[in-house]
Amino acid sequence: KKIAVFASGNGSNFQAILDATLSGEVNAEVKLLVCDRPNAFCIERAKQANIPSFIFSAKNYESKEQYEGEIIAHLKELNVEFIVLAGYMRLIGPTILDSFPGKIVNIHPSFLPLFPGKDAIGQALLAGVESTGVTVHYVDEGMDTGPIIAQEEILIEKGDSKESLEQKVHSVEHVLYVQTLKKLFS
Ligand code: GRF
Repeated sequence: KKIAVFASGNGSNFQAILDATLSGEVNAEVKLLVCDRPNAFCIERAKQANIPSFIFSAKNYESKEQYEGEIIAHLKELNVEFIVLAGYMRLIGPTILDSFPGKIVNIHPSFLPLFPGKDAIGQALLAGVESTGVTVHYVDEGMDTGPIIAQEEILIEKGDSKESLEQKVHSVEHVLYVQTLKKLFS
């Protein structure tokens, strides 16, 4: 499968996916990184691996339709068949959804449907729950609402800080996302 990864930040999930495609564990080729934050570290990761990236700032466009149209043009040019969201901090709009029906997945740092949206880890800590988790799901027009593909629970321990919980979530994410994509593309 020819895939594109969309990310806005550090890109540790992007890296895990990229590594798994390069090692052959996941039967896919990362054709493009799409990033909406010109200073994001994920861009360095793409450069290091010689993966082309499309970097944009939403504020330079009049509408979501406009920048998503540009993204779609790049994806088509590279024959991208599937989109993997990995910490992309924007809602996917109808322009992209209609071009890739059933072919977009996302990873979210909670046991959905609990704690959708921003700062899911902080939300879980604030709520005082005993566990949270990680979810991989198909993307629809909502915020973290599409059909769930895979989930893993993570216990929150007494001494957990935001940082320690974040670390646990990330290590689970990297494994769960790779496993899930491996199955999807096999
Ligand atoms: C991850 O926690 C992911 O679940 C969320 O954004 C974070 C991205 O982390 N959607 P990274 O950029 O992959 O390190």
